[in-house]
Amino acid sequence: MYVLVAVASRHGSTREIAIAIAHELQVSGVDAEVRHVEDVPDLDRYDAVVLGSAIYMGNWESAANGFVQRHQSRMLTMPVWLFSSGPVGNDNRPGQGDLPKVVEIAQLTHARGHQLFAGKLDRHALNLGERLVVKLVHAPDGDFRDWSAIRAWADGIAAALKAAALPAVAGGLSSDSARPSGYGSAYFG
Ligand SMILES: Cc1cc2nc3c(=O)[nH]c(=O)nc-3n(C[C@H](O)[C@H](O)[C@H](O)COP(=O)(O)O)c2cc1C
Repeated sequence: MYVLVAVASRHGSTREIAIAIAHELQVSGVDAEVRHVEDVPDLDRYDAVVLGSAIYMGNWESAANGFVQRHQSRMLTMPVWLFSSGPVGNDNRPGQGDLPKVVEIAQLTHARGHQLFAGKLDRHALNLGERLVVKLVHAPDGDFRDWSAIRAWADGIAAALKAAALPAVAGGLSSDSARPSGYGSAYFG
């Protein structure tokens, strides 16, 4: 079982969430690697995909949408989970219904779930335009990422994948058993 954690991240905080998800999958015995969405030519060697993006102005990064366009038909043949990272502050957490494009992507890919995680804002890392936007909406600086929630979500994915793989294991060695495993192969490229 080899899982791709594909991510679109502008300032790095969503990429760190993706790395934490891949790490947790590895710890749970599911091999995984992290790649930027534009660095995935095909999905041939993967058995499942976790796809995530930062949210900007109510939308996923366009590179994440492009990933879906390129790989949709293949994604329909494998388990897919989605996550978004964005809300900052304690009173600024939109519901999943506030991300209509992500709901559409979930339908297009038959995703098994979509999880919204709180994000991180450091205005010193932003460009001028971004700073103006966060000032206008009074978005607070800070790291609001909930690592326990992120690990718990990844644990649920690992459990689902391992449950789905059980019949193959009972019937003998599956091709997955030939793949390398272990934390060391978690990778962001
Ligand atoms: C210009 C700008 C617009 C943003 N728009 C949204 C938004 O519409 N919804 C949201 O939940 N978060 C929004 N955010 C917060 C980001 O999604 C959050 O900072 C996220 O953690 C950034 O991820 P990244 O570091 O991977 O780029 C915005 C941040 C900036 C700077």
